[in-house]
Amino acid sequence: MNYNIAVIPGDGIGPEIVTEAIKVLDKIGEKYNHTFNYTEILMGGVSIDKHGVPLTDEALEVAKKSDSVLLGAVGGPKWDTLPGHLRPEKGLLGIRKGLELYANIRPAVLYSELRGACPLKDEIIGDGFDMIVVRELTGGLYFGEKKSLVEDGVRKAIDTLVYDENEIKRITITAFDIARKRTKKVYSVDKANVMESSRLWRSVVHEVAKDYPDIEVVDMLVDNAAMQLVRDPKQFDVILTENMFGDILSDEASMVTGSIGMLASASLGKTKLGLYEPSHGSAPDIAGLGVANPIATILSVSMMLRYSLDLDQAADDIDNAIKKVLQNGFRTGDIMSEGMKKVGTVEMGNLIVAQL
Ligand code: IPM
Ligand code: MG
Repeated sequence: MNYNIAVIPGDGIGPEIVTEAIKVLDKIGEKYNHTFNYTEILMGGVSIDKHGVPLTDEALEVAKKSDSVLLGAVGGPKWDTLPGHLRPEKGLLGIRKGLELYANIRPAVLYSELRGACPLKDEIIGDGFDMIVVRELTGGLYFGEKKSLVEDGVRKAIDTLVYDENEIKRITITAFDIARKRTKKVYSVDKANVMESSRLWRSVVHEVAKDYPDIEVVDMLVDNAAMQLVRDPKQFDVILTENMFGDILSDEASMVTGSIGMLASASLGKTKLGLYEPSHGSAPDIAGLGVANPIATILSVSMMLRYSLDLDQAADDIDNAIKKVLQNGFRTGDIMSEGMKKVGTVEMGNLIVAQL
């Protein structure tokens, strides 16, 4: 088969990790006789530098016409002082919205090989954990009306948090469908004791649950969820939550698995077209040093093969190759522990390719 993949290297470590991910994809192509055609898109700081905006309409069109989009990361100190609508991050929000990717899936798994990198105590880790954060991605606070003003000489800023029932319903269905293939338990995280939007969230989740009698729903307040994630992460399986809570909790979930450098993500909508990116950022402090961990991006490629291209076997191959490399004791700096062999970005990519 022929697949058209839009590639967004982005800023910071983005180009380095995407290069490794493409090496892996090409190896899969060779092995299973598929051709991946890549079209590079500028987004983020590199697009601001070239076109004055973080994402052009033309770039978005290329993404829309592709079978899937692979993204590194965007942002960096160089663009930090630009006004909100011109920041690199706005490109990311724009492509998610433009492709209507309302469901962000972020699996956080503790690899047994990486127990040493987990910051939690042994008795909390137990035999490990395996959860998926299902984050609403195109609504809520990040997309509501924003304003900065001066009122009576006092500076004021406003962000608005809006959800309608349809937005809540569709993301709930995504979470329940995923839960059906797992332990059938969904933790719905909100702040219903304070926020109106959370109260709507909670009632819609329970309405949808009536169509899923096999799924157990546990409501959890977000502050409690943040605490439970480090107190007893094993209790979680599917975590369903709104945009900002999901942004924060998915970083936390990744950290208890050892490193954010291991956390992949898929952003999906109604069609097969998805956006695949590591959950971590552009890490400008280590950009160009060749030390970034490419595994989250390579795992994102695996998610792309599974969710958008229906190439499950190839996805399994990648997951197994990564496990093998970890078992063989190779680590990038972020997941390094005593007695292991430290490697850089390119070497990690090569080791994974060699296992395929
Ligand atoms: C993420 C990032 C983005 C987000 C930023 C860069 C806009 O933090 O993917 O989690 O908040 O969604
Ligand atoms: Mg984030």
